Amino acid sequence: MPSIAHDPEHRLWVLSGPGSSYVLHLDDGHRLRGLHWGPVLTLEQAASLLERPEPGRRSFEDPADGTLDLDTAGAMRYAHAGVQVRFPDGVRDLEPRLIGHEQTEHPDGSTELVLRFADHHYPLTLDAHYRVHPTTDVIERHLVLRHTGTDADGPVTVVRADSATWVLPRLGEYRLSQVRGQWSAETQLNRTPLPYGELVLTSRRGTTGHQANPWAMVDDGRTGEDHGAVWSCALAWSGSWRLTAQRLPTERVTLSAGFGHDPVTWELQPGGELTTPVCAGAYTEGGFGAASRLWHRHVLDRILPHPDELRPVLYNSWEATEFDIDVTGQIELAERAAALGVELFVMDDGWFGSRTHDAAGLGDWTPNPARFPDGLGPLIDRVHDLGMQFGLWVEPEMVNPDSDLYRAHPDWVLHHPHRHRTEHRNQLVLNLARPDVAAWLHGQLDDLLTKNAIDFLKWDMNRPFTEAGWPGAEADPDRLWIDHVRHLYALLDRLRADHPGLRIESCSSGGGRLDLGILARTDQVWTSDNTDALDRIEIQHGFSQLYPARVMGAWVTDSPNSYTGRSAPLDFRFHTAMTGVLGIGGDLNRWTEAELARAAELVAAYKGVRHLVQLGEQYRLRPLGDGELSAVQYVARDGRECAVIALRRSRHFGHRERSLPLRALDPAARYRDTATGTLHHGAVLLSQGLPLDLPADDCASALVHLVREQT
Ligand code: DGJ
Repeated sequence: MPSIAHDPEHRLWVLSGPGSSYVLHLDDGHRLRGLHWGPVLTLEQAASLLERPEPGRRSFEDPADGTLDLDTAGAMRYAHAGVQVRFPDGVRDLEPRLIGHEQTEHPDGSTELVLRFADHHYPLTLDAHYRVHPTTDVIERHLVLRHTGTDADGPVTVVRADSATWVLPRLGEYRLSQVRGQWSAETQLNRTPLPYGELVLTSRRGTTGHQANPWAMVDDGRTGEDHGAVWSCALAWSGSWRLTAQRLPTERVTLSAGFGHDPVTWELQPGGELTTPVCAGAYTEGGFGAASRLWHRHVLDRILPHPDELRPVLYNSWEATEFDIDVTGQIELAERAAALGVELFVMDDGWFGSRTHDAAGLGDWTPNPARFPDGLGPLIDRVHDLGMQFGLWVEPEMVNPDSDLYRAHPDWVLHHPHRHRTEHRNQLVLNLARPDVAAWLHGQLDDLLTKNAIDFLKWDMNRPFTEAGWPGAEADPDRLWIDHVRHLYALLDRLRADHPGLRIESCSSGGGRLDLGILARTDQVWTSDNTDALDRIEIQHGFSQLYPARVMGAWVTDSPNSYTGRSAPLDFRFHTAMTGVLGIGGDLNRWTEAELARAAELVAAYKGVRHLVQLGEQYRLRPLGDGELSAVQYVARDGRECAVIALRRSRHFGHRERSLPLRALDPAARYRDTATGTLHHGAVLLSQGLPLDLPADDCASALVHLVREQT
C-alpha cells in the first residue's frame, strides 16, 4: 500500500505507516478534517467513513468543531484554533481555499504531501506538510505561512502557528500522559484523566524548560505498558512552546502543538514566510512500551546526527571540583579516570576568563592564565595520551555582567529600556537573535575549536529569558523568541559541519533543553543535575517515555550524594547509570582502592552491554510504581542477545523478588548468562522469567547479559 493515497472524488488523503493510517478529508467548505487516526485503512475503507452519521449532533454546534486538522478559526467554531492571524485592517482569521496539492518522494524513502491553501481575499498562503515513512508510524508535520502581497498590503500578524493539530478518534474516556519537573527533578511521568476544556502544557522561558516537555500521549485510560493503543505527538523545538490538549463536551479531542507562547506574536512582512518547526505524531498499539520504542527508533534512525555511534563512557569534573580547577588537578583526575576505562574526559565550568565562581567571566572564552598558564594544550595532550577524548564545558548564550564581554557590549543582552535586568545565577541572556551577536559567538567557538583539539562540547544554558526585549527591533520585537533558537540551531549546524569530529551534549542546568529539535544537532543530553541513584530511577523512567537511552547522560557520583545527602552502594549507582550513557562524576581522589577497582569492573561490564542499552529495543519490565523493583531489558535488534538491569530499593518481610518474564526472545532458542554460564530456555525466560538473585540489603541491583546459543 502506498504511504500516501489520494481519492480526488472524495477529496481524501490516506497517510499510512506499517501499522496506522491518518485520514484527511477536505469538506465542502474547504475545511480540512481529520477523519481517522488509528489502524490502517485503505482508501475505499476511508471513503466509507463519509457515509457515517455524526453522533450526537446538536443545532448549536458546528459538527466540524474539534475535528479540523487545520483550524484557522472563524465561523461557528469556538474550539482551539492552531492557526490564528490578524490582517492590517483588523480582520482576524483565515478563510482558506485549497489551491493545490503535491507529493514528493524523498531519497530516504519517505513521501511528503503538501496541501496548499490561500485565503480567498487576503494575500496569505498556508502550506500544510505531511511526511510519511514506509517503515515507521511517525508522521512529521509542519506549516509554511507566506505573505504573497506587496508593501501596500502591510504586514500580517501571526498570533499563533501550531505546527500540527492532531484529531483523535472518539474513545469514550481519555487519559493524558506527560512529564512534569523542576530543576533536579526533571521528566517525572504523570498520567491523568483529560478534563473537559483546554489543558495547556507550555514553556514561556525561551527554552524547552524543566517544568514540562513538548510531547503528550493519549489513551483510553485502559492502556498498559504492554497492551492498548496510544496516540502521541512531540514538537521539535528548543524555545518557548505550547501544546494544547483539548476535550470538548461533544467528546472531540485534539492535540495541537507549536512554537511560541501566549501572548507572543510575529509580523509577516510582504514576501516573507514563516516556517514552523516539525511536530511529529504517531498511533501505536502494544501499550506505552511499544509507543516508547517507536519514538526511540524515530530518534535513533531519523533525528540524531550519528545514530549508529556508541557513546563513550565519560568522566565529568563538575561534582568533584566545581569551580576549583587547574591544569594539575584536572590531569590528576584524568589519570584516575583513564585507569577506570573512561573514554572521554570532560572539564566542566571554571576554566576561562575570571570564572573562579559563578559571578564573573561568562562570555570571556579564553583560558584563565593563572589556572592554565600554557592554555588548554597541556591538559588536552595528556588526556589524548591517556587514550581518552577531550571535552569542554561552555555556556555560549550567556554573559556575567562582570565580564569583559558585557563591559564592551552591555546592549547585547535581552533587555527592555526603562526596565530592570533580572539576573539569575548572576547572569544575563545574550540576544542571539541579533545577527552580530550570533556572528561574534560563532567566531569565538570556532576559534576555540580550531586552536584546541576538542572532541566534545558540553553546551550549557543555565537561565531562562526575562525582559525579553530587543531595542532597535521595533517592527517585530517578539521575533527574538524564534530567532534565538534558529540562530542557536544554525550555530550548532555550522560548528558541526566545520568540525566533523565534534560531538555535543545538550545541557540546561541538567535536563532543561531536551527535545527533538536539539537532538537533531547534539549527541546526548545531560539528564539532570540530580545524580542521586534513587531519584534518577524516577527521572530516567519519565525520560525513557519518549527519548532513548542512547542520549540519556547518567553519572555515577559520590556517596552520600552531594545534593540529596543520601547514600547508595557503588554497584547500585553504577547499575542505575548504566541504563543510559554511562558517565562518572565523582571525586575520584576520594574513592578507595577497592571502589576504584570495582568501578573499573563495572565500566568494563557496561562496555559489554552498551550496544544493547544504547542501540537496542527497550522493554520496561517492571516500570516504576510497580512495587519496589524497577527492571529494564534491552534487546538487540536481531534478537541475538539482551541485557537486563534490575534495581531494587528494599526487600519486604524477607520476600525474594519474583522472576522477571523477559520479552522479545526466541522461545525455541537457549540463552547463556555471560557472567555465570547458566543456560536458559527462551520459552522459560518468556513465560516463567529470569530468576533474580539480589542481595538482601537495601539498594540491591544486578546486570544480566544473555546471549543466544548457536545451534
Ligand atoms: C549546570 C550543569 O547542569 C552542571 O552539570 C554544571 O555544568 C554547571 N552548570 C556548571 O556551571
